[in-house]
Amino acid sequence: MEENENPVLPRLLTNQSPSEDREKLNNPFRRDSRSLSPATLTPVSVGRYRAILVKDRPSNALMSRFPPGPKRIFPGSIFLRFRKNPLSFLEQMAHEFGNVSYLRLGRENIFFVNHPDFIRDVLVTNDHNFTKSRAFAHTRKLLGEGLLTSEGDFHRRQRRMIQPAFHSRRIAGFAEAMTKNAERMRSRWHDGATLDVLHQMMQLTLAVVAETLFGADLESEASEVGAVLSATMESLSTRMLPLGAMLAKLPLPGTRRMEACRAKLDEIVYRLINERRRSAREHDDLLQMLLIAQDEEDSTARMTDEQVRDEVMTIILAGQLTTANALSWTWYLLSKHPEVETRVHEELDRVLGSRPPLLADLKTLSYTEKVITESLRLYPPAWMTARRAVNDYKVAAYIAPARSIVMMSQYVMHRDARYFRDPLRFDPERWTPEFNVALPKYAYFPFGGGPRGCIGEGFARMEMILIVATLAQQWKLRLVPGHRVVPQPLIALRPKHGLSMTALRR
Ligand code: HEM
Repeated sequence: MEENENPVLPRLLTNQSPSEDREKLNNPFRRDSRSLSPATLTPVSVGRYRAILVKDRPSNALMSRFPPGPKRIFPGSIFLRFRKNPLSFLEQMAHEFGNVSYLRLGRENIFFVNHPDFIRDVLVTNDHNFTKSRAFAHTRKLLGEGLLTSEGDFHRRQRRMIQPAFHSRRIAGFAEAMTKNAERMRSRWHDGATLDVLHQMMQLTLAVVAETLFGADLESEASEVGAVLSATMESLSTRMLPLGAMLAKLPLPGTRRMEACRAKLDEIVYRLINERRRSAREHDDLLQMLLIAQDEEDSTARMTDEQVRDEVMTIILAGQLTTANALSWTWYLLSKHPEVETRVHEELDRVLGSRPPLLADLKTLSYTEKVITESLRLYPPAWMTARRAVNDYKVAAYIAPARSIVMMSQYVMHRDARYFRDPLRFDPERWTPEFNVALPKYAYFPFGGGPRGCIGEGFARMEMILIVATLAQQWKLRLVPGHRVVPQPLIALRPKHGLSMTALRR
């Protein structure tokens, strides 16, 4: 590990001069004034950095409770800046304060960690000391006690029961549904037509998740379910902002519409569960797997209808928005990088010719896979992950008091020049086997990690490769001139104004 990668040093190190540091005292992103003031700073050379040591303090002075962070100019000023542009706010925090920084939002102590070792420590090693923060609290009404929102023993039991349904052997059977739905979509496109690609990808991933969950049962009412689900997802994704728990208390518009959608969805899902429980027919969809799932530690335990309903809603929510946005960003990047797109086309022509992709092709479509890996790096749909500490938690030289929120950002970490050379460049070729091995595990974590990591990672990767392959076999998408693409970090990172693109037949 190089000096500047040491997770502890950034508290000490800055490559700026003392005068710049003094300047920072007037800057909202200055170091913490409680521990540093101009009079106490002494520059010392450490490698190519200048260290700022705190004079006249015992050596354990570093064990202060709070790391440096942005300064509050007036009550609520940090919250407003964070809300205005969470991505650049977090990037600036990482740039300014290094691997661990601190901000206070309302009554919350928030520690922002920005080093793979610290991220692993929170998500994996010390997972038992954390709960999900309240970021998901306002989705609980829709999701109930599903995997995404539940905690502790209950979550562990549910995860044990549901995990086999996402085993690669099981999800292999869904490849056909993914390709078939993408084929249907590509046959509806017209040469030269303008498409809202985000909307198209939402429809496509919704169709895939609905078919893999409910199989044939849904065919008769697919359009009704599709409409209700789309409305739910749209209002959820536009309403949900970072720190939504705070915002959820405000009487925002759209709540009644959400409620109506939820009631309708409940009605449909409970009816499907009931019909299934009474039917003797064999099914091989996710709903069936949920209904027959057993706890390996208690083989008599099954899920109640309510639990199955909660998991169904969770799978829809967790699986659809994320994948739709990841695909949209991939089309955007391909349109901006025709040289990459050409290589994708070459691979598709070589491996598939004009036949649809099959499960067995996944291994061979290695360049297409790298494109998706790189797209998830630059535009990770899950752009931020947060946990709440149960007990005091030591991070680097600091103690996060119990109940603090520890925040990690995939978006910021994935663009860190310490791990990704030329980080803003879209470069699928960087994902060589050697690079993969050398990369610290949590420098790249689009699917989170540890016991609460994404259960649908294999599903999502397979879906994205098959959809990109099927659509790119026949179509190129080009951004409509003048259309502004602005990343907007809602529940998933999405293009704020959608993605207006022209479909061109290859
Ligand atoms: C590109 C697509 C996807 C991305 C980027 C993604 C990302 C994530 C991340 C980061 C988490 C962890 C959240 C946290 O730590 O707080 C997560 C959890 C989860 N994801 Fe995904 N996901 C994707 C697709 C899917 C799909 C397709 C499904 C299901 C079909 C799915 C189901 C879930 C579930 C159920 C959880 C909760 C797991 C638990 O807490 O036990 N995801 N996902």
